[in-house]
Amino acid sequence: MQVLTFPNPKLRTKAQKILKITPEIKKTLDDMLKIMYQKKGVGLAATQVDVHLAMIVIDISEKQNQPLKLINPVIINKSDTQDEEEGCLSVPGFRADIKRAQNITYTATDENNKETTKDVTGLMAVCIQHEIDHLKGKLFIDYLSNAKRQKVRTLIKKNQNNKNNKNNKNNKQ
Ligand code: NI
Repeated sequence: MQVLTFPNPKLRTKAQKILKITPEIKKTLDDMLKIMYQKKGVGLAATQVDVHLAMIVIDISEKQNQPLKLINPVIINKSDTQDEEEGCLSVPGFRADIKRAQNITYTATDENNKETTKDVTGLMAVCIQHEIDHLKGKLFIDYLSNAKRQKVRTLIKKNQNNKNNKNNKNNKQ
């Protein structure tokens, strides 16, 4: 399992609603958590690992021991927009202020097929909005101007080239 990075067109795929929670789906959620922790992220959408089903994982706890798995998450209410700094495992090495609702109400199903409705605020609210965007094929940098997004593209290309050069060097030694 690998995390796709911008500008990979697969990140633009719209996720399908999950109709049945299979063992394979549960396994994918566990694998997503594993890779999210490994990369020190606070959230990951299935889209980012090239699985186009509506599911996300989140853990905003400091000790990274409060995993949340949400299947078919939908925001049903939001309020109080504010700028918050965001990053994304699919846009490595870049952060930006994005306007997001600070309070949201969402519904989702857990892996035991139990539906819940919850009010959340702050980082959790921002994170859920960010991950649900992924399921729609949307990235946080889509909220930026074209010029800024072009800069991100250049930056990521440069970072990847540096990484490749470093790997080549290591291979030779
Ligand atoms: Ni992201």
